[in-house]
Amino acid sequence: MKKSILIGIVGSLIAGGAFTAYADKTHVLNSEKNSLVLTVDDNGTAFYQYFGPKISDSDVEGMLNVNSGLFGYTLPAFGLDSYGDKALAVKMPDGNISVDLQLVGEEMSSDDKGDLLTLKYKDKVYPLAVTQYFRRYKDTEIFSTWTEITNTGKKGDIELLTFASAAFPLARRDNYLTQFQGTWGCETFVTEEKLPNGQTLIANKAGLRNAFGSNPGFMISADGKAGENSGEVFAGNLVWSGPFKTRIEASPNFIQIISGINEEISNYDLTPGETFTTPEFIMTFSNEGKGGASRAFHKWGRKYGMTHGDRIHDILLNSWEGVYMDVNQEVMDEMMGDIAALGGELFVMDDGWFGDKYPRKRDESSLGDWMVNKEKLPQGIKGLTEAAKKHGVKFGIWIEPEMANTASELYEKHPDWILQQPNRPLQKGRGGTQVVLDLTNPKVQDFVFGIVDNLMTENPEIAYIKWDCNADIMNYGSTYLPKDKQNELFIRYHQSLRKVLERIRAKYPDLAIQLCASGGGRADYGVLPWFDEFWTSDNTDAYQRVFIQWGDSHFYPAIAQASHVSASPNHQTGRVVPLKFRFDVAMSGRLGMEMQPKTMTDAEKDFSKRAIAAYKDIRPLVQFGDQYRLVSPYDKGAVAALMYADEKKDQAVVFAYRMDYLHNQSVPTIRLEGVDENKTYRISDITPSDASKPSDLDGKVVSGKVLKNAGLNVRNSLGRPWTSLVLKLTAQ
Ligand code: DGJ
Repeated sequence: MKKSILIGIVGSLIAGGAFTAYADKTHVLNSEKNSLVLTVDDNGTAFYQYFGPKISDSDVEGMLNVNSGLFGYTLPAFGLDSYGDKALAVKMPDGNISVDLQLVGEEMSSDDKGDLLTLKYKDKVYPLAVTQYFRRYKDTEIFSTWTEITNTGKKGDIELLTFASAAFPLARRDNYLTQFQGTWGCETFVTEEKLPNGQTLIANKAGLRNAFGSNPGFMISADGKAGENSGEVFAGNLVWSGPFKTRIEASPNFIQIISGINEEISNYDLTPGETFTTPEFIMTFSNEGKGGASRAFHKWGRKYGMTHGDRIHDILLNSWEGVYMDVNQEVMDEMMGDIAALGGELFVMDDGWFGDKYPRKRDESSLGDWMVNKEKLPQGIKGLTEAAKKHGVKFGIWIEPEMANTASELYEKHPDWILQQPNRPLQKGRGGTQVVLDLTNPKVQDFVFGIVDNLMTENPEIAYIKWDCNADIMNYGSTYLPKDKQNELFIRYHQSLRKVLERIRAKYPDLAIQLCASGGGRADYGVLPWFDEFWTSDNTDAYQRVFIQWGDSHFYPAIAQASHVSASPNHQTGRVVPLKFRFDVAMSGRLGMEMQPKTMTDAEKDFSKRAIAAYKDIRPLVQFGDQYRLVSPYDKGAVAALMYADEKKDQAVVFAYRMDYLHNQSVPTIRLEGVDENKTYRISDITPSDASKPSDLDGKVVSGKVLKNAGLNVRNSLGRPWTSLVLKLTAQ
């Protein structure tokens, strides 16, 4: 509920001993479980006072009476004091590098997304206005903050040197930081360590694939290591797909998090009258451990952070690992028939279908030439959509719209449309010829929009687009931007990308679009709002996927994680694991297949059919349910496990994987956190290898109390390497 109260406390509040202030006005944003409390002193300086379990007005009053609270500036600006890290630093038109803000307005309002607190500031002397927003997202535990910075002058630019979205304080105790790093084929690796004093940086500068390297999501425990289901955790993430930077400054007596666009090689000049809006920093507080923070983000993600988070996502076959670029009408037709026969709902033709003068046979040519290659597909896309109709599946297609190859008709016609720098050799990526289009150029924006628009206008039957991105910005220069705006390229590229995606979504709201960037290179909330899901990793090895999906699950819901069953031996790691294990891992996300079904034996096809049918049964639980991570693969024990449950905990599904095998190794029971202790559940093994020989747990009826406290004994079912279980629990 929206809350804006005047508490009128007179008394000195000590802020880290550094200054004295009077709490004049207090603003409270409440969610169902949490409160965010801000105070504004009589000098007009705003402070974060509290973020944690919900408190009442009298609690707030008491807290301020005893001088408790965070006392962290909401907008530390550089200039009149240089103590500590700053969220805002500018260079005024006359060269003055200082900011002195005066609060000129406070407003609490609500809109369709929830409650919004607005604080308005003006510099006391210079033509600079800053509006700071604090939002509480309706029906979720997610809060956010961002700013709008305006040059209100008539003459002269204001240079933004530092323009973070958030400066957030945390109490310094025995804090642990969890962060996520990765690279191609090894995304979202989880690291948890004691937060050291000094500055810890979580940052990225690649330009496009910003979830390679560091993911912008992170968690900090409040006191001691937080567990999956217990302990207090602050979790934050930045809604920006471009270079970002989160600085966590910890000293023996405070923590300050400053998060925003990475301003290195990205300072921005505000022209007179121009407003710059920083991306949203989203955050939650959980006293149900890291799992609670993740569930809050999943719920927010489904509702606000992705497209179609409330719509069941199809089971698909993607052609990439099955045939790579050897696509043609016959093979595509056959694969559509195969996935239809297995119970799938959608077929996606991946790379290799386009290019006329430069046919796409390998990755060294054709990007930009989005016309069908008539040799491979003489009947055009129509031939494919008709084949899909014949087989009763939907049809999807791969594109990589932000890119070109220098071996392409597009490049020959518009060499100025690609990012490039004067007097420097052109750096080329994949295939030795891949370059990035200059999306800051409105003509290029029209071209990129047109790729989707032309495909959809000519083939309205297309139900799904895989939007790939296999490069970073290696040529930092634009022929479109003027000389004095070159330094804004990273920012303007991503603003332009958003514009194009908004246009696409306005015209094609129903289209499913997958976000792919050489796998999970864009697994972040910066662009996910315009997409239905992301391709989790080019690494489809089920064993390593348990780790990658575990990492992603800290911030991104299962419905957004495309998870495909591929061939064995696996194409990336060479690992050989049974089909059941591969299915059981893929079924914990958005299930799909990525192989040539023709190579499967009848027994494998039979199993795949049963597994796909089972997934349909549990799909609402996986795609919309609450996720509980139960046993971490990082613990390097015998087994890893996770589960999903519906809101009332009437139904649940448990996934358990044998990750390590030493003879006679202990396999501890798995405690099912996501069940209701007051209910009794019937267990069914829904993916037995042999339909007539389910696990010994199948059909058993057990109380929630036992499942949660004594745990589930999986020793018999997971006694061998690469064994796995998917168990459905139904309350009786
Ligand atoms: C990279 C993607 O991650 C793959 O899934 C595939 O689409 C290839 N690109 C195609 O070139």
